[in-house]
Amino acid sequence: MSRAPRPVLAVASECAPLVKTGGLADVVGALPAVLSAQGWAVRTLIPGYRKVMSALKRAKVIAEWSDLLGVEARIVSAKAEGLDLLVLDAPALFDREGSPYLDADGNDWRDNDLRFAALSLAAARIAGGALDGWRPELVHLHDWQAGLTPVYLRQGGLHIPCVMTIHNIAFHGLAPGERLSALGLTGAGFDLDGYEYYGHISALKAGLTGARAINTVSPTYAQELTTPEFGMGLDGVIRARWADVSGILNGIDTETWNPEADPLISPFKGPPGKAANTRALRTEFGLAASGGPLAVVVSRLSDQKGLDLLLDALPAFLEQGGQLALLGSGDRKLEHAFLAAADAHPGQVSVRIGYDEALSHRLYAGAEAVLVPSRFEPCGLTQMYGLRYGALPVVARTGGLADTVIHANAAALAAGCATGIVHDPQSVPALEEALRQLCALHAMPAVFRRLQKNAMKHPVGWEGSAPLYAALYARLADEAATETA
Ligand code: ADP
Ligand code: GLC
Repeated sequence: MSRAPRPVLAVASECAPLVKTGGLADVVGALPAVLSAQGWAVRTLIPGYRKVMSALKRAKVIAEWSDLLGVEARIVSAKAEGLDLLVLDAPALFDREGSPYLDADGNDWRDNDLRFAALSLAAARIAGGALDGWRPELVHLHDWQAGLTPVYLRQGGLHIPCVMTIHNIAFHGLAPGERLSALGLTGAGFDLDGYEYYGHISALKAGLTGARAINTVSPTYAQELTTPEFGMGLDGVIRARWADVSGILNGIDTETWNPEADPLISPFKGPPGKAANTRALRTEFGLAASGGPLAVVVSRLSDQKGLDLLLDALPAFLEQGGQLALLGSGDRKLEHAFLAAADAHPGQVSVRIGYDEALSHRLYAGAEAVLVPSRFEPCGLTQMYGLRYGALPVVARTGGLADTVIHANAAALAAGCATGIVHDPQSVPALEEALRQLCALHAMPAVFRRLQKNAMKHPVGWEGSAPLYAALYARLADEAATETA
């Protein structure tokens, strides 16, 4: 007889397709389905942003609190897009226009500490039994926005194990030490071994020190996190907890991202069928017909992504017949610089500033290459969408990029297993060289098609990683059960 699914609570600030600013949402949105096949029933707690509340159908209020860190709040349960959602409806914190983290001017919401502390406190209350008839065996925390959960659990005398997943260690969720009482923190654990960070409250450090296990989203990034260069001030904490740290590579949702059945593109099975999408993309972006490769970028425009290097490497690439279509938004300086590059090279460079999910599908489908020159990249999903859609990834050798792309060196080409181009170090000359190689490979159609076929065959789903998460959950939940028995 098969065992009943085991309950787990996931806590995150984003969840695709309801609310997304980056890959975190894709992963949080994809995990419940893949873990369900592994015997885990995930309920996902997210904030009730205005956009989320208006998208909910047949929602049911299942808990009401008159005072959650000073505001009124309700937990709304809803099923949406195959997800079992718990939505924290706290209008004073989340019912506003703007992104999950930023106001209309692009500044952090001033009360972000309170907003996500409330999310974490709600998680602790739910884990402690606030919802009639439901208790999770463990809590899965995603990034700093969920990081204070173990502290609230401890303050409540609750012993429920947490897994902390680091999607990006660059964001710590810091608040001044004076905010302790506003955030409902007693101060226990506000020290070097706990959640204090140079006099500040660090939500991420709270998660890293309070969770039973820590994982990040690729094996290479796990290793990198132990170094000062990548650990962003928390490498010491990672080293101290190394026995509990693992790297579990992200997958992508291969149903949503399926070139053979994607309703947002002209579906295709292999490189020849892709050509119609490439033509359509050139037309849509006003790019000239060209014998050179059409490369795309779909990205947040931030320092992490190394796109300033691409701006410098661009002239040499264009001279060789390369073209660039970019969709992105973020850093205003980068937005202007790419728009200026498009003005300077009409028909060769075309740029859309904004966020557009449907357009991103057309870009991956039409692209011959996806460029990801990141300075650091915990996992990266866009190179995996590129692989799946036969757009060769040209990536920096870092984090998950290094773990997902097989570089087209002589040996890999001879063995027929190469899937893209990996450059190292992250510098303009190295990127120029990678783009030169892209142009050279593109000029050999049979070789290029072979690479595209390899890319499309490369496993990018969750088959490998879902059992690793399931095993981690089972170990922690079973250990906790033994301790309390
Ligand atoms: P990160 O989470 O650091 O931004 P990832 O590569 O993990 O990087 O994930 C980025 C996700 O966001 C991908 O699904 C990508 O397609 C999407 N994305 C990024 N920028 C845009 C945009 N401007 N429009 C549409 N989708 C975008
Ligand atoms: C973060 C990282 C990205 C990763 C994503 C999902 O946003 O920057 O590399 O793919 O989380 O884990």
